[in-house]
Amino acid sequence: MKIGRGAAIVAQQFHTTELTGKNILITLGASVEAIDPVRYISNHSSGKMGMALVNNCIELGAQVTCIYAKIQTELNQRASNIQALSAKKMHKAVMENIAEQDIFISCAAVADFSPENIAKDKIKKNADDLKLILKPNPDILQDVCKLTKKPLTIGFAAETKNPLENAQIKLKNKGCDVIILNDVSGADFGLNVDENEVTFLSQNYQQKIAKTSKQKIAKKILEIFIRKFL
Ligand code: PMT
Repeated sequence: MKIGRGAAIVAQQFHTTELTGKNILITLGASVEAIDPVRYISNHSSGKMGMALVNNCIELGAQVTCIYAKIQTELNQRASNIQALSAKKMHKAVMENIAEQDIFISCAAVADFSPENIAKDKIKKNADDLKLILKPNPDILQDVCKLTKKPLTIGFAAETKNPLENAQIKLKNKGCDVIILNDVSGADFGLNVDENEVTFLSQNYQQKIAKTSKQKIAKKILEIFIRKFL
């Protein structure tokens, strides 16, 4: 039987998928920590892995809030998009929006430290060396995990050494439900490229997802997460 376009749109509205009715907050991109009005400390995250998760969550029916820092990828206009460049601003934006979330995915590459003071004017080259004092930033993922009404949480662990061991420590110390181990020691997957290779880790489950596009990695992460947690 053939159905008209109007009927197809109505059918689509009533079509439920695995994440229909779920609110998901996703952070992504590279945090930017100002040194002075011109310079900053940041990293190589492009936001592509996080955006692949945003796109896949939307396809699966979720309402997505996307809190992004510095990114080199297109925003999805079907998400509610909020820019927060520094770790402190991202922490504030996440905490202001977390109450209504069912799931929190922390894919942003957030600086662990930022300059204690941001110089008001451009720092002049009038000394042989320049000492910057860095102070720890709030840990957004850890603070979300400490909430009494905590959403399900997926963190990432970007590692270059002893990846599995370090990711397991992060899973335990941050208190999240899942850690996605992302070995970023090579140049052909991970940071600022289109492909990735990760390991899904929870307290009693581990699964490697072989190298493929970030869109497919995101799909697979969500498939496992839905099967194990929802
Ligand atoms: O953006 P792409 O170019 O696509 O690259 C993707 C990626 C490699 C950046 C991504 O897959 C990834 O691994 N993101 C996490 C990077 C990171 O900061 O990892 P971490 O091991 O330092 O942090 C562990 C977890 O704590 C992460 O979920 C991080 O978002 C979170 N965190 C860290 C520090 C902090 N102050 N607050 C946090 O919430």
